[in-house]
Amino acid sequence: MYLSGNNEELTVASLSQERIREAVSILRWGGVVAFPTETVYGLGGDAKNPAAIKRIFDIKGRPADHPLIVHIAASHQLQDWACDIPPAAIRLAEKFWPGPLTLILKRHPSVPLCVTGGQETVGLRVPDHPVALALLQAFNGGLAAPSANMFGRISPTTAVHVKDELQGRVDMVLDGGSCRVGLESTIVSLVDDCPRLLRPGSILAQDIFAAIGIEPQPGTSETKIRVPGNLSSHYAPSVPLTLLSQDDLKALLLKLPENGSRVCALLYSSGLTMLAEAGDVDYELMPESAADYARRLYAVMRHFDRGVYASVLVETPPQTTEWSAINDRLSRASQRPVNL
Ligand code: TXA
Ligand code: MG
Repeated sequence: MYLSGNNEELTVASLSQERIREAVSILRWGGVVAFPTETVYGLGGDAKNPAAIKRIFDIKGRPADHPLIVHIAASHQLQDWACDIPPAAIRLAEKFWPGPLTLILKRHPSVPLCVTGGQETVGLRVPDHPVALALLQAFNGGLAAPSANMFGRISPTTAVHVKDELQGRVDMVLDGGSCRVGLESTIVSLVDDCPRLLRPGSILAQDIFAAIGIEPQPGTSETKIRVPGNLSSHYAPSVPLTLLSQDDLKALLLKLPENGSRVCALLYSSGLTMLAEAGDVDYELMPESAADYARRLYAVMRHFDRGVYASVLVETPPQTTEWSAINDRLSRASQRPVNL
């Protein structure tokens, strides 16, 4: 369940207004600035400047037909970016913005097609992070921003992650601390007759239903909408990642002693830690709650992906709806062969 609340990370006050001004002038000449949001860090450029958009695609190595989300400062700016906005979109924006929800709507004619991947729809959201909001207000326009990572890889949840991956290729990285949510926004399309959940996030299908009284349908391949997160392999570390039930992981850990040192594990049950230790398997015992687990997940995946291990074993977390975004990302990250 999404909990709206004060961001306890760095506030705009602690980040100097000078840095925001510097970022705005970079964005004005078509530069690219990585900035924090409550979900993950974004790689932002002026959504009305095709040269800036091209740079974002080049930096990420992202195919040009995969659309970018446009970040705006407030919901009243919706009509500048979308048209034929249905009442359900207004209700969702009022209820969840600023927050981790992206709405897919009909594109306003002024939105460049390079932002929307050539599609007649546009993704929009107001991020719930003081640095992102200060930047958007000072910029006074829309910022097209995918997650600030190479295409298909793990999204960054700290400024250090961004620098490790993109240093020297972006014009500036604004540091806003660790992201509070830790997984990408929920994406809901409102361009068909019924709302469609294109990407699960911390705002759940039941939260959408509670707000608009209509159950969002799953996004289907027939919708032909290009959502990179809907590729079978995405959000993926380069080391093979295997999802296992508690029993299967237990059985595997018991067999591992000879080659355990090249294997690491993401555990959910504290009962497995002793087995991991006995097998000389480096492990991380993940938090019990879905929100804490989500906040931690990408940092742990990056840590396990630094070239030390041959394989990551992941104990499947609970399968309830609260965990849907986590299970979605883990299953996309695990679409690789096992190679113990
Ligand atoms: O939490 C987030 O959404 C983060 C932060 C930075 O806001 N952004 C993010 O962007 O995850 P990106 O580009 O990594 O993923 C955005 C997703 C992509 O899967 C993209 O295809 C989808 O949004 N998307 C954007 N515009 C769309 C559109 N018009 N129709 C369908 N999907 C769209
Ligand atoms: Mg991404």
